[in-house]
Amino acid sequence: MLNNLNQKIPPTYLKIDQATKESGFTMASDILTCSLLKTLAAAKPAGKFLELGTGTGLSTAWILEGMDKNSTLISFDHDEKFLSIAQQYLGQDERLALVLSDGEDWVKNNLGQKFDYIFADTWHGKYLLLDEVLEMLNPGGLYIVDDMLPQSNWPEGHEEKAINFVKYLESRRDLTLTKQNWATGIIIAVKK
Ligand SMILES: C[S@@+](CC[C@H](N)C(=O)[O-])C[C@H]1O[C@@H](n2cnc3c(N)ncnc32)[C@H](O)[C@@H]1O
Repeated sequence: MLNNLNQKIPPTYLKIDQATKESGFTMASDILTCSLLKTLAAAKPAGKFLELGTGTGLSTAWILEGMDKNSTLISFDHDEKFLSIAQQYLGQDERLALVLSDGEDWVKNNLGQKFDYIFADTWHGKYLLLDEVLEMLNPGGLYIVDDMLPQSNWPEGHEEKAINFVKYLESRRDLTLTKQNWATGIIIAVKK
């Protein structure tokens, strides 16, 4: 088996990818991760989806592609410039709510919400307010993170944070998880 993609790329992804390159956004999710996000999204029909950290909407486009018509996705980011690219190409999808918000504000204002699928791709829900975001998972809900292998843009001291984050996830009795040494390093956890 080869690692090549061999699957349909969402047409919006190609447009967003072009706009992303022109915008100077450097934190984009890689395409292998995006394809996994799509596959896992298909496992949650009529699901409630949450993405923390929209960026320009690259991963959002793939998650939407995997979701069925009865599912909904909330995705937030604090950067208006990058979020506007997602809005331009994905904003017409009625299943999607794009929110301009700081992560801390969004999480603290939405503690009562429950989700079947969470892609945590910013500080909040990963290195900050982790317990609060894990509490938002329904039983059987998926929690997904990428960038768990050392990345060239990691600031000094980040590797230790990543190691502690993994240890903490492993210590949680309410999560069943798999760590994948693949793409940028993926963890998939399922809430008991
Ligand atoms: C890794 S990128 C997201 C990449 C995106 N999921 C993709 O597929 O390309 C992390 C995002 O978190 C956002 N971010 C950073 N700090 C934030 C904060 N305090 N509140 C909300 N968003 C934040 C950044 O603007 C950036 O778009």
